[in-house]
Amino acid sequence: MKRIKASEENYKQVIEILPESIFIYDQNSILYVNTFGENMLGAQKKDDILGKSIYDFINPNYHERAMKRLKQLCEENIQTSNVGQKLIRLDKKIIFVEVSSRSILYEGKEATLSIVKDITDKKETTESLLEKSEKLALVGQMAAGIAHEIRNPLTSIKGFIQLFKSKYTSEEEYFNLVLSELERINLIIGEFLVLAKPTAIVFKDKDIKSLIKDVVTLINIQAIMNNVQIFVEFESDISMIVCEENQLKQVFINILKNAIEAMPNGGTIDLKVKAKEKDKVSICIIDQGSGIPEDRIPTLSEPFYTTKEKGTGLGLMISYKIIESHDGEIKISSKINEGTTVEVILPTIPQSH
Ligand SMILES: Nc1ncnc2c1ncn2[C@@H]1O[C@H](COP(=O)(O)OP(=O)(O)O)[C@@H](O)[C@H]1O
Ligand SMILES: [Mg+2]
Repeated sequence: MKRIKASEENYKQVIEILPESIFIYDQNSILYVNTFGENMLGAQKKDDILGKSIYDFINPNYHERAMKRLKQLCEENIQTSNVGQKLIRLDKKIIFVEVSSRSILYEGKEATLSIVKDITDKKETTESLLEKSEKLALVGQMAAGIAHEIRNPLTSIKGFIQLFKSKYTSEEEYFNLVLSELERINLIIGEFLVLAKPTAIVFKDKDIKSLIKDVVTLINIQAIMNNVQIFVEFESDISMIVCEENQLKQVFINILKNAIEAMPNGGTIDLKVKAKEKDKVSICIIDQGSGIPEDRIPTLSEPFYTTKEKGTGLGLMISYKIIESHDGEIKISSKINEGTTVEVILPTIPQSH
């Protein structure tokens, strides 16, 4: 008998220091709570909790359910695990918990033992993440829709301004100003439109080398005008990729444009296409420009960060989105005043050997 008592004491001590909240209660009141549980409910001492009803701590919306479950536990001698509940702490703060319960004999009487886990932090993080991604998707759709609607009237306004400009030559500089402002609107809309019309997107097999060659041809005029030379290097054996050609071109144009703009006094850009580990291709764009502060690099996928007078801060955000939708990744490393390397990694079509 003594030994049984002693081992019971041991158990109690173990339960007391367990890093989980443990409650023992019957229909009327809480009979036991360990230290962790006491802290979870914001109590200073056990007597703040002992003797009270569990319903004092359960959010009223959950009372009925809790009662039903308790009845079930007692009558059917089952266990429940990880049941979600909202509790109210002594300081009235609400916490989300997961409860696992079973009925036990406590000091000779029937009671219920519950292990309660505080999941408030987890819940808040997932909820805010969910909210954020939903919001972003909505904003993207709206922006694309609006961009589309603005583009047509913009084209006709531009046409008329050009017409007026040729008629009223004395006011040329004003017309040029209006035209350049219109061009700016057009630029911003252009960046948004890439995200538009997800239904019109077609993924096709494509040779990355020919895609890169096309892009370099396109951007070369701008490069030459800025005294920038682009050197392209291809590894010979690169597999095909699956991509939405126009979107991917947009990504490389964005990155090359940034590289050119980072070297206002000219310089060189190295573009290297290499096979990477298993079934991947790496495209590196290396410039010798101004560089990006280290703490800025993680935020480049967010919209509206720009250091340029005429920048939109949308190019990289859109590039990240496009590469993400191609199951690829963008890695940026940079040293101030030395240059920036942007690496785009894309999956290639697996080759059977
Ligand atoms: N290659 C680069 N070298 C230096 N800074 C860069 C480079 N690429 C991007 N950046 C920085 O990231 C910012 C955001 O780029 P981006 O999203 O393309 O918008 P924008 O070019 O319109 O400013 C740029 O304003 C610039 O400060
Ligand atoms: Mg840019």
